[in-house]
Parts: sequence; structure tokens; C-alpha cells
Amino acid sequence: MFLGNDTLEIKDKVVHIDGYNVIELAEKFGTPLYVMSEEQIKINAERYFKAFKDYKKDFILAYAYKANSNLAITRLLTKLGCGADVVSGGELYIAKLSKVDNDKIVFNGNCKTKEEIVMGVESEIRAFNVDSISELIMINETAKELGKVANVAFRVNPDINPKTHPKISTGLKKSKFGLPLDLAKKAIKMALEMENVNFVGIHCHIGSQITDVSPFIEETRKMMEFIVELKNEGIEVRDLNLGGGLGVPYYKDKEIPTVEDYAKAIINTIYEFEDKVEIPNLILEPGRSIVATAGYLITKVHHIKETSCKWVMVDAGMNDMLRPAMYEAYHHIINAKVKGEKEVVSVAGGLCESSDIFGKDRELDKVEVGDTIIIFDVGAYGISMANNYNARGRPRMILTSKKGVYIIRERETYADLISKDLIPPHLL
Ligand code: LLP
Repeated sequence: MFLGNDTLEIKDKVVHIDGYNVIELAEKFGTPLYVMSEEQIKINAERYFKAFKDYKKDFILAYAYKANSNLAITRLLTKLGCGADVVSGGELYIAKLSKVDNDKIVFNGNCKTKEEIVMGVESEIRAFNVDSISELIMINETAKELGKVANVAFRVNPDINPKTHPKISTGLKKSKFGLPLDLAKKAIKMALEMENVNFVGIHCHIGSQITDVSPFIEETRKMMEFIVELKNEGIEVRDLNLGGGLGVPYYKDKEIPTVEDYAKAIINTIYEFEDKVEIPNLILEPGRSIVATAGYLITKVHHIKETSCKWVMVDAGMNDMLRPAMYEAYHHIINAKVKGEKEVVSVAGGLCESSDIFGKDRELDKVEVGDTIIIFDVGAYGISMANNYNARGRPRMILTSKKGVYIIRERETYADLISKDLIPPHLL
């Protein structure tokens, strides 16, 4: 019915997720409310495992924790066989609590601190994706202090245009991420001379919400050419990590490449090099394409007014879900109740910012005060980018599954909002 939302259906004129009536969920758990569908996450992850199952070497699906690092979600993904792409000590902490195999954890980021490097070395992770020579030196020194040898891969900047939003393009020459090929080669040679690091692979991530396979083909080809070049200099590459980036169908009327299309493009490109070099293990770091379509933000209409347009004021806001305000991102919006009669409305949150709008001039089933509104595809970069602006607590999150409905994150209270603030004695 809606592209990407396989477990949503309309029964008795009401939207159901994983079989649960959304209006009843909103009444029981309150709004704003994040709903994560366990069944949809399973479908999304299993699609990846199926599409890459015949890959000739090891395949690791290192889920990008930044997309949604709720413990229930990360634990579910561990159970489904995923590893973890982490970018901070906090994410590594969560990956360990989620019982991810150390050998399936990769550590990204362009400014890892000493403390984070200690955590990664002690955890004996599969690889640090090293972003600079300065970081390489720090990892080698840290591993030496700890009496260990740390695995390192290098993040390469391939200078590729992923044709996506500029704020989420990461593989262009001017980007802050990674090393250009010549510098990466220099860093690899340095690593090979160091005693406390073990060179294992190369890494690349060109951007996010990519809806065309051609940038991925270009990325894979550049990386394989680099692997051949290294081989010709006697350097073997164990792991090829192609990052994440596959887009999701935010627009419900526009088909985009599937995981199967993406897998075929990558695998075929790698195999083109089979007679030139040993095929490497493959690591991917998808975030969005695993969890985005599994998440819904359920919100209630409190006020309606007609000025330049018909405004529908809802209790969710840009603090709960920042993407529309930050990237002008499109998220599909519907009324949870099918009424037949349609009208054009603009859906706004209640924060004191004019960018706090979830959708302008959208066609929805007739909206009245008290209605329940559903904002689609917020499972990735939704709760993980939520904040307390305007002193609003972050929302509750529930998981719907065949086993039942579970609260997986509590709503923040007023007391939570000030729990880290301190008043000096002279102001008491
Ligand atoms: N690997 C690396 C090194 C990354 O930087 C990212 C995302 C991923 C993997 C996962 O990419 P995905 O499969 O989710 O596209 N807040 C933005 C997205 C920022 C993505 C940052 N890096 C948004 O809401 O669109």
C-alpha cells in the first residue's frame, strides 16, 4: 500500500501497524509516540542477508548505530545477525550491551578521542576505520600502552558525487572525511611498519539517502582498483567496507533501487576484478535502509486554524523529529482514520521556530481536533537526533511485534529535563 511499509495495513478504516490499531496505541501510550515495527526491521535486515548470501567471501552487515541506537532495536539487530558501525564511545558501549561480536564491530569517525580509542582497542574490534595519520599514530601508541595490536582499516575519500542532499554527501573531495587515495596509500605503508597495528582493509562511505545505484558502482570500482594497485605493491587487503547510504522510499509514489538492485550492482562490480586480485570480505554499514521504514511518529491534533492555509497543530515537534526542519526532508503524512473526504493542510509542531513544520500543503483525509496523525519513515535519524529544545521531553517509543507491544523507551519527564542542571550555592 505504501512503498517500504510492508507491515502497515488499513482495517475497518483505521491504520494498523503489525496488526495494532494506531488510534488505540496513541490512546494507551500517549502522544507524541514513536512506534517501531519489529516485523519491518526483520524484513529489512533479512533482505540484506538474502541479497548477499552468495557473496564468495565473508559478508558483515554492520548496522549504523547512529540511525537508531535504542537498546531494544540494537539487540534485535544483533539477534538477526548484524554487527555494528559505531562512531563514539557511547555507541560502542551500546553495541557491547547489545552483545555484538567484537569481530563484527567497526569504529568510524574523524575525531576519535584517546578514551574512545582505548575502548576500541580493549574490545578487540574488527577494525578502526582510520580517518587521519594523526589518528593512526594515536591508535598505535594506545595499543602499545595496552600491550595489544589493533586492527586498522583506512577511510578513503573517493571524490564521488552521490547525488543526494549536500548535508549528507560525504565522499566529495572537499568533505572532511577520509583520506584521498595517495595519502591513504602512504598511511597504509606507515601502518605496515608499525608494531601495534594490523592493517586489515579499506573503507569508504559516500553519502546517505542515495537513490541511484551508479554512485555505488563507481565507489566499488574505485575501491577495487585501489585494492589491485595495493596488491601490485605486495599489500593484501582483507576487508572492503563500502559504508552505508542506500536510500528509502520517503516519497510513496516513486520507486527507488531495492536492496537486491544494490547488492547486484556491488557484487558484480567486485567480481569484475576476480582475475586480478583475491576477492575481499565485504562489510556494509547501512542504517537508514534497515530502520527508517520501520518507524512511525504518532501525534495528535490539538488545534486547527485557517490563515494563509489550513494549519493542523500537532503535539510532536522538530525536537522529536528534526529531519524536515534540518534538511527540508519529505516524510509522508496521513490521518490514522480513513474518512474518504480529502483536504489540503499544513502540519506543524508547537515549537517557537518557523521551520517546525512536518509537511506543507499535504493532502490528508479531513482533519479534526483530536485526530491521530501518522508521520512515516522516522525509524532512522528520528529519535537519535531528537533533543530537548523548548524544554520538551523526548517522546516514548514502543515496539510492535508478533509477540506483543512493548515500551522500549520511556517518555522524558519535566524532572528529566533539569536532571543535569546544577545551581551554584549563591543562587539558591
Ligand atoms: N557509515 C558511515 C561512515 C556514515 O557516516 C553513515 C551515515 C552510515 C554508515 C549510515 O548511512 P545510511 O545507510 O544510514 O545512509 N542525519 C542524516 C543522515 C546522516 C548520515 C550520516 N552518516 C539524515 O537524517 O538524513
